[in-house]
Amino acid sequence: MVNLGDTFPNFEADTTIGKIKFHDFIGDSWCILFSHPADYTPVCTTELGKCVELEPEFKKRGVKMIALSCDDVPSHEGWSKDIIEYVKCSSDKLPYPIISDKSRDLAVKLGMVDPAEKDNAGLPLTCRAVFIIGPDKKLKLSMLYPATTGRNFAEILRVIDSLQLTMNKKVATPEGWQQGGKCMVLPSIPQEGIEKVFPKGVTVQPVPSGKAYLRFTPQPE
Ligand code: BEZ
Repeated sequence: MVNLGDTFPNFEADTTIGKIKFHDFIGDSWCILFSHPADYTPVCTTELGKCVELEPEFKKRGVKMIALSCDDVPSHEGWSKDIIEYVKCSSDKLPYPIISDKSRDLAVKLGMVDPAEKDNAGLPLTCRAVFIIGPDKKLKLSMLYPATTGRNFAEILRVIDSLQLTMNKKVATPEGWQQGGKCMVLPSIPQEGIEKVFPKGVTVQPVPSGKAYLRFTPQPE
């Protein structure tokens, strides 16, 4: 199990681009690791297809992509062809590698085992996990979905935008925030001298408690 802020394990794994050491794979980029229960399954195929379509968006944000599924590399290679056909991709290769976790060592280490889902041999499968890792190799965000619920990768891009904004600026992003939208001033920022920190201005929304904590500011540059 990896907690937010922990250094992500520097595991070694077999993938569709050969053996990798995870930190070397990440390099100086951000990284998204997204796991899947199994190859040749319908929901996973729609998710991996969406990741092909959104790869330019991840690239624009400096995020390297890597998938994981419990089957072996030859199975990943065969399944990749179906995914490419499903999204009518012009390339004959997926724009990201897929890790093979046949032993489930990574599933156990990273807390991704889904006890509700088993393969034909009775071995547990991985859930739909998402890990966003920063260039410092620390875990910035994680989500776990069960096998029966596909993820929304547009939402994942949205949270990456928030992570990349809030690591540099003294703001947090409210519910449903989108790039360019109003942000919230961090509670730790004192009201005194706030105009120097937020030259675009701060609006305080009055509330019955009289506490000035709903402080909105335009998204900082
Ligand atoms: C799927 O990807 O469609 C799936 C995989 C395992 C269990 C349920 C659905």
